[in-house]
Amino acid sequence: MPFPVKRVHFGNYVFNIWENVYEPAEDSFLFAENLDVEKGAQVLDVGTGCGILGILAAEKAGNVVAFDLNPSAVRCARENSALNNVRSKMAFMQADLLTALNEKATFDLILFNAPYLPSAEDEAESWIGRSWAGGINGRQVIDRFISEASPHLKPNSRILLMQSTLTNVEETIRKFEERNLKVSFKAERKLPFFETLTLIEAKT
Ligand SMILES: C[S@@+](CC[C@H](N)C(=O)[O-])C[C@H]1O[C@@H](n2cnc3c(N)ncnc32)[C@H](O)[C@@H]1O
Repeated sequence: MPFPVKRVHFGNYVFNIWENVYEPAEDSFLFAENLDVEKGAQVLDVGTGCGILGILAAEKAGNVVAFDLNPSAVRCARENSALNNVRSKMAFMQADLLTALNEKATFDLILFNAPYLPSAEDEAESWIGRSWAGGINGRQVIDRFISEASPHLKPNSRILLMQSTLTNVEETIRKFEERNLKVSFKAERKLPFFETLTLIEAKT
């Protein structure tokens, strides 16, 4: 049975981080600082981890669906939603990207702080490794996400996707544009060793 190993604060929110669950890091915080949600929006938080993005979104959203492949993350996020008084607005499910959705399910906003680091095959063998491991070119999960998420957008809706310049941001732009989405950079943060975190917005 997993258990909380750490407590993280963001503004007035508090998150217990369970064993084998991604601890919010610079990418999570850059995303959280730039997360704007329309009142009443229907939001999907893919790869919710400890729930940080979905829980913040739930303040203004009508409702938030949160998915993660990692069963400990799903339970951790669910408990954190109760801790932050937004449990009634949220639904949680263990799921591989968007494959669990009914084909007619659509959202106003889809969030994903993706596993984006180029990595060896064996890094994806642990739950925590799967939080950052994006396969040999870093794009394995991102490419699947782009093709699975686009059909679940309502008219006048958006995707917010966090990745890094280590993983070919131009390729992401190209793939979104192929699906007739308009792309812009919502936020960027330089990290050491020539890497920049990039929060990409793709609008219908
Ligand atoms: C970088 S962490 C982000 C966690 C959290 N959203 C945050 O910002 O702190 C990526 C998350 O995606 C999840 N994940 C990885 N592959 C996934 C997949 N195929 N389907 C659903 N979730 C996945 C991981 O378990 C992890 O919780």
